[in-house]
Amino acid sequence: EKGGFEHFMLKEIFEQPKSIKDCFRGRLIANNGQLVLGGIREYANALTNAERIVIVACGTSWHAGLVAEYIFEEFCRIPVEVEYASEFRYRNPIIREGDIVIAISQSGETADTLAAMELAKSKGAIVLGVCNVVGSSISRVSHEGVYTHAGPEIGVASTKAFTAQLTVLTMIALRVAHRKGTMAEQRYRSFLAELESIPAKVEKALKTDDQVKKIAALFKDSRNCLYLGRGYNFPVALEGALKLKEISYIHAEGYPAAEMKHGPIALIDEEMPVVVIATRDSSYDKIVSNIQEVKARKGKVIAIVSEGDSLIPGMVDHTIEVPGTHDALMPMVATIPLQLLSYHIAVMRNCNVDQPRNLAKSVTVE
Ligand code: M6R
Repeated sequence: EKGGFEHFMLKEIFEQPKSIKDCFRGRLIANNGQLVLGGIREYANALTNAERIVIVACGTSWHAGLVAEYIFEEFCRIPVEVEYASEFRYRNPIIREGDIVIAISQSGETADTLAAMELAKSKGAIVLGVCNVVGSSISRVSHEGVYTHAGPEIGVASTKAFTAQLTVLTMIALRVAHRKGTMAEQRYRSFLAELESIPAKVEKALKTDDQVKKIAALFKDSRNCLYLGRGYNFPVALEGALKLKEISYIHAEGYPAAEMKHGPIALIDEEMPVVVIATRDSSYDKIVSNIQEVKARKGKVIAIVSEGDSLIPGMVDHTIEVPGTHDALMPMVATIPLQLLSYHIAVMRNCNVDQPRNLAKSVTVE
């Protein structure tokens, strides 16, 4: 049932070109500009005219929500707030009649997310679900929703569900932006085509596996690890750190790279591995300076860069190349080597990759 892989997690990581494709199958046909989301038909107008969107989720799904915040704000010009479901539900949040609340959940059973949705509903919000498990509690409680169709995810560490969530959220944002007219037709078309090319780019990113494994061997005994990113890659840094923490029990933190000088830079010395997501995007020059700041303090830098980058490899200790894409779609590609890195480190540390200590696949208690 693991399809020849040693663990479910590895199988699920390698399934991503297919699970992303399954996610847009029948919904996206780029060459005729088609993007059909049957799951948000009735509330499509409400979404298009929304004054604000609130996203509620936990863990990795919350990270997908952070990427979605940047996407919705850039594409649709709708203000977005992303909330931990557990915080939202207990702080009498301000929700107005007709506000849109999007709940993101792989399992569809996360107690805090479910309770946040019920609360939002009771205050008159329109609640949309982005869920992987068909027929789950969250999918039943939402007014409408879009399934991620990533297939069953068994490993406790979420991998293919994350990239499928990003795919669905991007499709929703593109649909809204197109209806709203906040994205020009030509740009919209080029995004559809780029989205369709993501499975092939993920396939290529998976080819870094052997190289990532060698890097993992060098860092497996680290006690701490820092992950840095900016813009769309900031949530990727958080997600990379979460993956390492939960399956290898190495303390890791994700940070927006510019925040480093406000505290975490004090941690950097020759013992500190720093994973920097430094793909070529609008914050490239800034992240290059952040890398210099880390190197000046003798940190060990592992950089995720775009194919063909000729500057960063000369500055850092290790580079991992991934194919380039639009800034907004980069998280789907850049997250792949980070999933592999945490996987290999966990295996080398003899950790129980698929069922890490103290964790459950779905957190049905608050
Ligand atoms: O099923 P959900 O997406 O609602 O689960 C949310 C979190 O419990 C989940 O993402 C958790 O953080 C994972 N173990 C992360 O890999």
